[in-house]
Amino acid sequence: MQLRAHRLHLSSAVRTPARTPSRSIPIRHASSTSFYNSPGLRNTLGALALLASGAAVTAYYLDSRSAIHRYVIPPLLRVTLDAEQAHRFAVRTLASGLAPRDLGSDDEKLQIEIWGHRLPNPVSLAAGFDKDAEAIEGLFKLGFGWVEIGSVTPKAQPGNPSPRVFHLSEDLAMINRYGFPSVGFPLVVSRLRSFLSLRRDPSSPQLLSVNVGKNKSSPPESVTDYVEGVRTLGPLADVLVINVSSPNTPGLRGLQTRGLLVGLLTAARKERDAIQKREIGTQGFKWERPKLVVKIAPDLNEVELQDIADVVLETGIDGVIVSNTTIQRPPHLISGNAEEKGGLSGAPLLPLSLSALRTLRAYLPASVPIFGCGGISTGADALEFARSGASAVQLYTSFGYGGPGVPRRIKDEIVSELAKEGTTWEAVAIPGHLREEVLMKEGEKLRRAAEKLKAID
Ligand SMILES: Cc1cc2nc3c(=O)[nH]c(=O)nc-3n(C[C@H](O)[C@H](O)[C@H](O)COP(=O)(O)O)c2cc1C
Repeated sequence: MQLRAHRLHLSSAVRTPARTPSRSIPIRHASSTSFYNSPGLRNTLGALALLASGAAVTAYYLDSRSAIHRYVIPPLLRVTLDAEQAHRFAVRTLASGLAPRDLGSDDEKLQIEIWGHRLPNPVSLAAGFDKDAEAIEGLFKLGFGWVEIGSVTPKAQPGNPSPRVFHLSEDLAMINRYGFPSVGFPLVVSRLRSFLSLRRDPSSPQLLSVNVGKNKSSPPESVTDYVEGVRTLGPLADVLVINVSSPNTPGLRGLQTRGLLVGLLTAARKERDAIQKREIGTQGFKWERPKLVVKIAPDLNEVELQDIADVVLETGIDGVIVSNTTIQRPPHLISGNAEEKGGLSGAPLLPLSLSALRTLRAYLPASVPIFGCGGISTGADALEFARSGASAVQLYTSFGYGGPGVPRRIKDEIVSELAKEGTTWEAVAIPGHLREEVLMKEGEKLRRAAEKLKAID
């Protein structure tokens, strides 16, 4: 018994060293499992993972270039909401401060000097998107060089009955007959004041313009709405735009005829000159008084465009936007909504606007900038307008289709094209030959005038 007990003792003693490591593993294992299993650490790791993925999702969402803002949200809005609801949704999102933004920076090649001011890039938002000045800050953050709000009318008015905006998706176009729904001057004035005093970065080189329309109830030939607009909104804008080209207010486009336009722009200019001078730089203003620009239709013929050029020179206003929407319906439109009444914008408008711009450019000296607008959706489109003499471009419809990354994409496309050609936007937009051409035209005009005088003699 004793011997057996001794053997047993010995055998266990012999086995012990062999078991020790195998016992030590579970002990170590047990201690590391409990380390990772500690609820505190698990929670911390979980929270960190959540934070990291939250930060990644936020960064992705906030970058206007993210694919979701191009390929998911805009098409989704188009199929789930009607065109006006989608428009309202976009404005509200941009006004909320929770919208994506342009996280890139503007290449120097994009700069252009306009009226002595260096604009950081020539890609601007056209009127009609932010009619009531609700989302100015959000729009600037998307990287537009220039944002235009309006059209604003003196009195608040509802505009035309709905439906009044239509997608022509197959044609990358829209038709609208909004008819200037507007909250009116007083509310826009207070929104502009609050933006200028609280939100605008005074050192930002971006421009803010206000587009002025007229009430439907005002007599068609009256200019008082515009004059009131210059007086009321002028002190709050870098640029004032006189809109005589929207097709949805009866009689409005008639103001483009020579006689009426002279009266309108003379009165507007006089009112602008009477605005109290402001100190340049206060609230980000670039000039002592706002610049005055007229926005015209793409449907004018050469004689009418020549008249516009003459009136612009005669009244001394500062520039022209070419163009608003068209009342034409090019025969190649294929969308079901093509026959809706209203103004057509987007891709099918491009050749009409471009042609009007080229014609007008030939009659205006390079010192009067023209801003191209109509169907611009790529850097190549923008450059085509620049080559036709546009100092900067505006867009609306492609922004609706392409989403908030459109300004950044167009800017990038312009830069890569300019880099290939070894040039800059400014050199393309205001080439030397343009000045020569204009001088020749002016010389021709002088000759004609001299001939007329001789004939009278
Ligand atoms: C829905 C909609 C509303 C518009 N509202 C206005 C407006 O109130 N005032 C104005 O001057 N232009 C207005 N426009 C015209 C645009 O500013 C721009 O001149 C025109 O759409 C051509 O540019 P696009 O082809 O890039 O859209 C509107 C355009 C659209 C599509």
